[in-house]
Amino acid sequence: MDDLRGRVAVVTGGASGIGLALAERFAAEGMGVVIADVEEAALEDAGNRLRAAGADVLGVVTDVRDPDQVEELAERASAHFGGVHVVCNNAGVSAMSAKPVWEIPLEDWTWTLGVNLWGVINGVRTFVPRLIAQGEGHIVNTASMAGFISSAGPYGVSKFGVVSLTEGLYLELRDAVPSVGVSVLCPGWVNTRIGDAERNRPSELAVERNDPLAARAARGLHRVLEVGMAPASVADEVVGAIRAGRFYVLPHHDEAWLEPVRERMIDILEGRNPVRRPVPGSDVLVSALAEPE
Ligand SMILES: NC(=O)c1ccc[n+]([C@@H]2O[C@H](COP(=O)([O-])OP(=O)(O)OC[C@H]3O[C@@H](n4cnc5c(N)ncnc54)[C@H](O)[C@@H]3O)[C@@H](O)[C@H]2O)c1
Repeated sequence: MDDLRGRVAVVTGGASGIGLALAERFAAEGMGVVIADVEEAALEDAGNRLRAAGADVLGVVTDVRDPDQVEELAERASAHFGGVHVVCNNAGVSAMSAKPVWEIPLEDWTWTLGVNLWGVINGVRTFVPRLIAQGEGHIVNTASMAGFISSAGPYGVSKFGVVSLTEGLYLELRDAVPSVGVSVLCPGWVNTRIGDAERNRPSELAVERNDPLAARAARGLHRVLEVGMAPASVADEVVGAIRAGRFYVLPHHDEAWLEPVRERMIDILEGRNPVRRPVPGSDVLVSALAEPE
């Protein structure tokens, strides 16, 4: 979809980080913007900021885990703007745990898969039929480089799921309605608030953390995020991909990120067992885990 001016974008997780940068960039392109987020105060601030810059913005408090709330989001967006053209299923969280996979609390699985995977499933089920009926549009699902490089926890599992779902969606839509485009966004480290994702954990999924490793893991994550890519640069890549109809959006396309992905594929094809390969920032994460309190 080349001509964005006058079109409408919906961005989940739009109150912070990559989602907010996408909303700002879409507004700068002359689009109407719907930002959806579970964090009410941040959503209001983001809406005010975008409006002050001259954007036409609707903020809708939405928990993407809940299909009814995502339906309501679509209804509100259509009622306000008359239609939706670009949908970014972007909301995501990362549970702060350093446990081996067999000890990760069920609450972490439920919360992370609920937002990162079910949020995308709900967005696809709600918005894709509307884009098809309209005959044009573009859907962008946020995965991660963690969707290509295996890890045992719920974050990586959710992102592998988003990559798989979105690749399949691309193929199905290409055959059925080629005028509806699809992209999967797979960044490496980006300087956002995902290191503080616990701020939005629902109280019914609270866990008691008495593991000193979790605090050290959080410290390491903050360090790699702080020096991560600017969210605005990620948004630039996404807009370029929507215009070009490009599916894979890998803002960190340097060899240090690509090599572990390539080598994993070769392991699979050559029948080798998995190998732990460092990605940029792995050294920072590992040394934070070894630090004294
Ligand atoms: N920051 C990175 O390094 C990085 C790297 C790869 C992928 N990602 C992905 O980018 C996406 C955006 O994350 P970010 O880094 O901008 O983090 P962020 O914390 O700055 O923004 C995420 C937003 O999602 C919202 N959110 C959380 N739970 C929600 C729910 N249930 N319903 C609706 N909104 C909810 C949060 O309130 C927040 O505004 C996520 O899917 C994340 O996994 C981030």
